[in-house]
Amino acid sequence: MARITAGLATSHIPLIGVAIDQNRGEEDYFKPILAAYDWTRRWIIQPENKPDVVILIYNDHASAFDMNFIPTFAIGCADSFEPADEGWGRRPVPTVKNHAELAWHIAQSLILDDFDMTIINKMDVDHGLTVPLSAVFGQPKEWPVKVIPLAVNVVTYPVPSGNRCWLLGEAIARAVASFPENLNVQIWGTGGMSHQLQGARAGLINKEWDQRFLDDMTRDPQRLRAIPHIEYLRETGSEGIEMVMWLIMRGALSTQARELHRAYHVPASNTALGHLVLENVE
Ligand code: DHB
Ligand code: FE
Repeated sequence: MARITAGLATSHIPLIGVAIDQNRGEEDYFKPILAAYDWTRRWIIQPENKPDVVILIYNDHASAFDMNFIPTFAIGCADSFEPADEGWGRRPVPTVKNHAELAWHIAQSLILDDFDMTIINKMDVDHGLTVPLSAVFGQPKEWPVKVIPLAVNVVTYPVPSGNRCWLLGEAIARAVASFPENLNVQIWGTGGMSHQLQGARAGLINKEWDQRFLDDMTRDPQRLRAIPHIEYLRETGSEGIEMVMWLIMRGALSTQARELHRAYHVPASNTALGHLVLENVE
């Protein structure tokens, strides 16, 4: 049987990709940013932890989707996905290889479980998906895991509620548990933490709010589930809403999930970098 063994959350700041792609990790500015992932990089290559498949929850930033079509929840079912050209060429990172059989199984299970997923058979994946992979796996020739892209609209309102995201996570857990092959599956939630990229409040960071969010991922996740959009906007800036994607990850784990690692660092570009690793205690 396939099992979700761990959940990981991380910001997906494009500048982290720049630091890695341009080998600038030794610069003073980037050292503490990349150090946030040191523990995770060691942990994830241990044989008992290494996932076969990562279900990677992310948002597309007008790279694959634009105002012509806006899927609320989309799952990538193709065999592979190329890194997107976001205006300065494709990132020099490997092609993302899917576990298409599991992806199709999850798509079917979710749809029969009343989640109307959009099925994507061709798309490029942007920094929302590739930066977390680089942060955790560095610069390998091939990504060492299969990746199922699951894209969430957090760009154009109306975006899904935190509660809806949580419920989707629960449904993903049911889908994985009903897949017969023995697989170690991780689920990653990306985006956040507090940030606003434009307008009068550009550069907004709310450390207190962010820290409490990190605390409550294990201490009081039910509180997080009920946070309304307006609170994300008010307290964490316009792009802080990306954090609802962490709740898909959290909803897929058991209530007893345990924090293994945490990092929080400001500044990282315009954003507070947040990173968590949670063990799925069953
Ligand atoms: C930044 C953060 C993001 O989440 C993103 O998608 C783009 C840019 C930033 O802080 O620079
Ligand atoms: Fe983003």
